[in-house]
Amino acid sequence: MRIPMMVGNWKMNNDNDEAWDLAVAIAEGLEDLEGCQVVVCPPFTALVSVGEAMEGTDIALGGQNLYWETSGAFTGEISAPMLTSCGCEYVIVGHSERRGRFGKAPAEECLLSVFGDNDATVNKKVKAALSGDLIPIVCVGELLAERQEEKTDEVVEGQVVAALAELVEDEIVDVVFAYEPVWAIGTGEVCEAGEANRVCRIIREALAEKVGADEAEQMIVLYGGSVSPGNIQGLMEQPDIDGGLVGGACLKDESFCELAKVAAEVKGE
Ligand code: PGA
Repeated sequence: MRIPMMVGNWKMNNDNDEAWDLAVAIAEGLEDLEGCQVVVCPPFTALVSVGEAMEGTDIALGGQNLYWETSGAFTGEISAPMLTSCGCEYVIVGHSERRGRFGKAPAEECLLSVFGDNDATVNKKVKAALSGDLIPIVCVGELLAERQEEKTDEVVEGQVVAALAELVEDEIVDVVFAYEPVWAIGTGEVCEAGEANRVCRIIREALAEKVGADEAEQMIVLYGGSVSPGNIQGLMEQPDIDGGLVGGACLKDESFCELAKVAAEVKGE
């Protein structure tokens, strides 16, 4: 049985004081929650205070990115050991905003990424996360133009396979995937639940090719992109969607707590 998961990606929001307040409110709001793994991913600068605010709860801490080396002359970067030393158990890898694939922007503009993540760096980061005892939450998803050209399945499958290059079965089973259609991120335009489920199934089938069908059935596949209290029920009712990777709606404790509670409730039925 897969335990549902709700991940809050705070992105570049909340200074240390704001982060503390939000974390305390989430911890209080989810005090009685059972049956959903909640993960909070604040900016690096707030990891320690958020960890403190959530101490004693079952809420896990995650980073939003990492670099693949463990230390050295890499100005501005953060390594897996640094994240674990702040209490992280998870790390988001290959978010579309880091791959330079933005909202509804045309494909040409999406190539202007200042962060430069691509399939090859995502693979290095997944390996670094796993060797550093972090569970990578790997984001995959198509641009609007790719969907219109009916390339969704090919793009998503390609990203899954590339992220897992050279990894062995025992490592792969720990990886969490998040299907995040780029056009749905931060746009308020959620992917229709049945379609999101179809693509999550494609991800699971690609995983089955690597680890076998039984193991792939145990792996966590999330949906992300304009998840909100208004659409979470329908998403969670889908058999291949195990939870959400949430941006906007995780910045308010009431809405984030509601998402986690609905996930637990629907999957617990
Ligand atoms: P959103 O962001 O919920 O604001 O669309 C999701 C994400 O970027 O992971």
